[in-house]
Amino acid sequence: MHGADPRLVLGLHRSRHHRDILTAALDLGVTALDTAAAYLGFRSHSVLAETAADLLPKFTLSTKVGFFPGAGGAEHSLDPVRLRLAIERAARELGREPDTVLLHNPERSLLGMPPAMGHALLGSACTALVDAARDGLCRTWGVSSWDTRPLGMPRVDGLPSPDVLMVRAGFLVDIGLLDATAVLRNAWQAGETWGMSPFGGGDGQVWEDFDPRPFLQAPHDGLSRVQAAFRTAFHLPSAAAVAVGTDNPGHLAQLVQALGAEVDTTAVSQYLRALHRRRQS
Ligand SMILES: NC(=O)c1ccc[n+]([C@@H]2O[C@H](COP(=O)([O-])OP(=O)(O)OC[C@H]3O[C@@H](n4cnc5c(N)ncnc54)[C@H](OP(=O)(O)O)[C@@H]3O)[C@@H](O)[C@H]2O)c1
Repeated sequence: MHGADPRLVLGLHRSRHHRDILTAALDLGVTALDTAAAYLGFRSHSVLAETAADLLPKFTLSTKVGFFPGAGGAEHSLDPVRLRLAIERAARELGREPDTVLLHNPERSLLGMPPAMGHALLGSACTALVDAARDGLCRTWGVSSWDTRPLGMPRVDGLPSPDVLMVRAGFLVDIGLLDATAVLRNAWQAGETWGMSPFGGGDGQVWEDFDPRPFLQAPHDGLSRVQAAFRTAFHLPSAAAVAVGTDNPGHLAQLVQALGAEVDTTAVSQYLRALHRRRQS
């Protein structure tokens, strides 16, 4: 049994939602879970409640709203009324209020919209989440964005500042996206940044060609390339926590072990400078 470490958030996007990974997480001190109304074909909340009702109170739980079941699959909406109903439904399905509710990929509804209209729509969506937190439907609220670039267009000046901004993290994130995230983060002054998807959801093939271990401070106790990639993701961009997915308790144990390593932030800065130079040339 490990002490709880809030830096690792177990993300359920690709998860089978089996109970064994949740019990393994608790044993390893992983006490933060991230899901979404849309995960597992819109059944994530109810399946969690069915299979792990007794475990859920032991986790801090974040979920996301913004996608809704539609005729041709999932449809996206920032309609504040729909968002409010989705937050209420989440608490009902889970059998408890989530700790944090995140607006799920708001850029999906903003793409191609005139900036003033986008600003108003994003503002009313944020206000729906602020109101939900005020009414006790969650403790904190935030925004989870796969692509922060379209969020720069409507600008976020004057909009409520999220408690959490969840963004893509790690070596697989394009420098243009990292820059857009930095601009957004500055403008929005979110309370905390959480990284997500440090392996890009992929099969790990890329780490056979690229060794990120030089980004760790020595000695790094024989950590693997995957562990180094995960640990360094906390600095690309700098994040208080990183949401990562696995159904494999052994993999989760490796990720927990990687938290003990320190990252060479000078090497990370040099790497970012090199990417910027390459982009400008
Ligand atoms: N827009 C959004 O809001 C959004 C979008 C994407 C992701 N997210 C959040 O971020 C979380 C993670 O994203 P993700 O699942 O897409 O991507 P990810 O965490 O980058 O990758 C998950 C993949 O990495 C593998 N993996 C994990 N640990 C490993 C290890 N130690 N060794 C080898 N392979 C390992 C997993 O395979 P195994 O199961 O075999 O370990 C799984 O296939 C999501 O669950 C969600 O919470 C949010």
